[in-house]
Amino acid sequence: MAVCNLGHCHPKVVKSIQEQAEKLIHVSNFYYIEPQIQLASLLCKYSFADEVFFCNSGAEANEGALKLARKYSKEKIGKDRYEIITMERSFHGRTLATLTATGQEKFHKGYDPLMPGFKYVPFNDIGAVKQAIDSKTCAVMVEPIQGEGGVNCPTPGYLKALREICDEKKLLLIFDEVQVGMGRTGKLFAYEHEGVEPDLLTLAKSLAGGVPIGALLIKKEVADSFKPGDHASTFGGNPLASAAGVAALTAILEEGMLENCQKMGDYFLSEFWKVEEKFPFVKEVRGKGLILGMELKIEGGPIVKEMLKKKILINCTMGNVLRFLPPLIVTKEEIDRVVKALEEVFSNCGV
Ligand SMILES: Cc1ncc(COP(=O)(O)O)c(C=O)c1O
Repeated sequence: MAVCNLGHCHPKVVKSIQEQAEKLIHVSNFYYIEPQIQLASLLCKYSFADEVFFCNSGAEANEGALKLARKYSKEKIGKDRYEIITMERSFHGRTLATLTATGQEKFHKGYDPLMPGFKYVPFNDIGAVKQAIDSKTCAVMVEPIQGEGGVNCPTPGYLKALREICDEKKLLLIFDEVQVGMGRTGKLFAYEHEGVEPDLLTLAKSLAGGVPIGALLIKKEVADSFKPGDHASTFGGNPLASAAGVAALTAILEEGMLENCQKMGDYFLSEFWKVEEKFPFVKEVRGKGLILGMELKIEGGPIVKEMLKKKILINCTMGNVLRFLPPLIVTKEEIDRVVKALEEVFSNCGV
């Protein structure tokens, strides 16, 4: 699920955890925590951000983004600004606020009443965003590539148009890169492909090489609206998770993982195009770097089960989109094995 970007037990991550565990596993945020400062500095150095808030998961990072967007907007833009526009088919987490932010009814069922203050518009439809904005809107939240919603990529210019409309209407732009951040698309952050910077960005999943962590990256002007005590997390940025984060990020940057991701992603996609030509029930293949989706005209669940029998773990989202999220260190030989297995399963699926 996009956590093991470095594969399992990357030696740098293992070593950093071992060394940190011998020094200090946890200490409260009343103290400066050295590895936390190192990780925040690295994240700021390589992104648009000036400040970082650490927590423990993607949902918690998004929760922080939603709270801060409301607080900043009420203080700085207008006291009635609290509404957040999110996208249909989005996924932002399972807490009450983040599942409300998630633009998919199946995740809402059974949890009413949901949080007030959210509006959903179709992904890739800038006109719908413009129409949804009113005097209460404070932010637009979007995954630069939708993961859970079926690996949906932005049309060229869409993210830029979102940035422009947010600037024009004094709205914050929040990118949820919990799934597509940390090198998954071939750049450290997915927003880099379009050259469009958000005001807030959330990370989790692979940030610490498999150790639970979440982070909210923020521009200073917005971060200033969180005063000490306004928002916090007991474990957020604790020494162990932060040390693992520093090691994971350093490994991504220093070991050619972004280059491998781009190269192997292109290769994987070109192999998938061949599969698409062979099997008429493949509707489309799409993705960027090593987040790849294969949309089928048939149900994807049984295909996942058959692949598992061949000891290959893939996932199916939206009922008919096979999603492939291999580690960034995947090799050509491993991709060949997956494609061969998929072709065997497709040939035997009786369609
Ligand atoms: C884009 C996105 N945002 C948020 C989340 C929630 O993250 P977590 O499960 O760490 O709370 C996920 C999890 O799949 C995700 O894909």
